[in-house]
Amino acid sequence: MVFKDRVALVTGGSRGIGKSIAQQLVQGGAQVFIFARDLAKAQETASQLGNVTPMQADVADFDQVEAQIKQIIAQTGKLDYLINNAGITRDNLLMRMDKADWDAVINTNLGGAFNCTKAVTRQMSKQRFGRIVNITSIIGAMGNAGQANYSAAKAGLMGLTKSAARELASRNITVNAVAPGFIETDMTAVLPENIKSAMLQQIPLGRFGQPEDVAQLTCFLLSDTAGYITGQVFHVNGGLLM
Ligand code: NAI
Repeated sequence: MVFKDRVALVTGGSRGIGKSIAQQLVQGGAQVFIFARDLAKAQETASQLGNVTPMQADVADFDQVEAQIKQIIAQTGKLDYLINNAGITRDNLLMRMDKADWDAVINTNLGGAFNCTKAVTRQMSKQRFGRIVNITSIIGAMGNAGQANYSAAKAGLMGLTKSAARELASRNITVNAVAPGFIETDMTAVLPENIKSAMLQQIPLGRFGQPEDVAQLTCFLLSDTAGYITGQVFHVNGGLLM
């Protein structure tokens, strides 16, 4: 039980990568809270996983995030792990990208991580322990046509990771990022087959990743074993980017 007595918050934990992280944390003995915009979906996930408390929270909403994180701390007296996983795509070529699509992706994927990180730092500093893992993307490192908003947000998240790691290290809080490549989830299921097969041909390991591939590394970074690792970006992409 590596995560016994630990309290964790996973944003966007109802499905995909976030759900897999929540599941592994529960298996390790942690008490897990998940943030979701759709409470019913989060309740369904919580009933499948066990020791998970679903909470309605849009990570892009600063006040709502702050209130819900206060609620977790009031209930448990601590908060050890934050996994900033919630993310969306609104793909389009720059020339056709609406301002609303730019704003939605930046406000969720980058602004959401800021809102949650800001809301946990006081408590983590007080307890002189914390682990924050930001789920960024290979696209933040290499760019992608049609994803200017997404790649800007994910690259920004890498910068946020490094600055937060420097600011919080003296309080024994580590901050790292995990950058998945192509992982089979609802987010990628909507991509056209021709794009998927073109992508597959470029992956040296010859297969797409699974949510568990990302969750395993994330959970290692949360564990006590990883206490000397901070400010790093780890790629999980089957060799797609080296
Ligand atoms: P997904 O779409 O299956 O899950 C994302 C979850 O985040 C959903 O439950 C969604 O409702 C939630 N969410 C979205 N906006 C939210 C908000 N404002 N507030 C609260 N929750 C919100 O996607 P997946 O694939 O599991 O992605 C998880 C993370 O991994 C995302 O940040 C994504 O950008 C990142 N990622 C995924 C890759 C992939 O190939 N699937 C590759 C690289 C990064």
